[in-house]
Amino acid sequence: MVERQFLPAHVGIIMDGNGRWAKRRGLPRKMGHKAGAEAFRTIARYANRRGLRFLTVYVFSTENWKRPEDEVHAILKLLRNYLDEVDQYRDENIRIRFLGDLSVFDPDIREKMEEIRVESAHNTGMTLNLAINYGGRDEIVHAARRLAKRVQAGELAPEEITEALVSENLYAGDEPDVDLIIRPSGEYRLSNFLIWQSAYAEYVFMDEVLWPDFTPDHLEEALTEYQKRNRRFGGI
Ligand code: FPP
Repeated sequence: MVERQFLPAHVGIIMDGNGRWAKRRGLPRKMGHKAGAEAFRTIARYANRRGLRFLTVYVFSTENWKRPEDEVHAILKLLRNYLDEVDQYRDENIRIRFLGDLSVFDPDIREKMEEIRVESAHNTGMTLNLAINYGGRDEIVHAARRLAKRVQAGELAPEEITEALVSENLYAGDEPDVDLIIRPSGEYRLSNFLIWQSAYAEYVFMDEVLWPDFTPDHLEEALTEYQKRNRRFGGI
């Protein structure tokens, strides 16, 4: 087992394969998402106990609205259920944040997310980021607009815009870049996930498992693989 000091500080997971998992069982796709939400609960709890500092999961992308309405509805219902039960996890000491353009959601969901964010802000365990209505390009556009407003207001000169300043203006601008991105289900894509923050990330694609079947053992396998990689950040 990888020792704590060699763990990646920040892990991102693309929870892929829910639809295929359901299809293989002759079930509707939404049952795959339901099983995926269960896997997510288990992995988030395990990752916190294991000592990961930051975990970002891709729950719903800016592109996912293109899916059939009942599937979108099912995923958002699972999200609501999760938000409603978060109170039960208080003793887990996890800090919960939401990344994405949240402005499109109903006021009641937004209030709930804000309440959870504020209530968990002082927790000292893992930070769990739920990427919802999230797109990496959208996030960069959002950061660019924030900086442009400061330039327009005369607070900032264009030459003062640095990589660090762009990073600081992302949705979770105070968090470290992602070190490891895990994608199960055999797809080898980033799908607009953390595209700025993953410039030097390691990628572990796992062909043999679909997200609903993903267990702590799979996470351990990815952490072991990460530890074997030699990260040089462009150096030698
Ligand atoms: C990708 O699988 C998965 C999603 C688009 C949704 C992820 C959502 C969850 C795991 C459940 C909700 C989570 C929470 C936190 C409540 P896919 O549908 O693209 O699978 P496929 O490629 O096999 O079709």
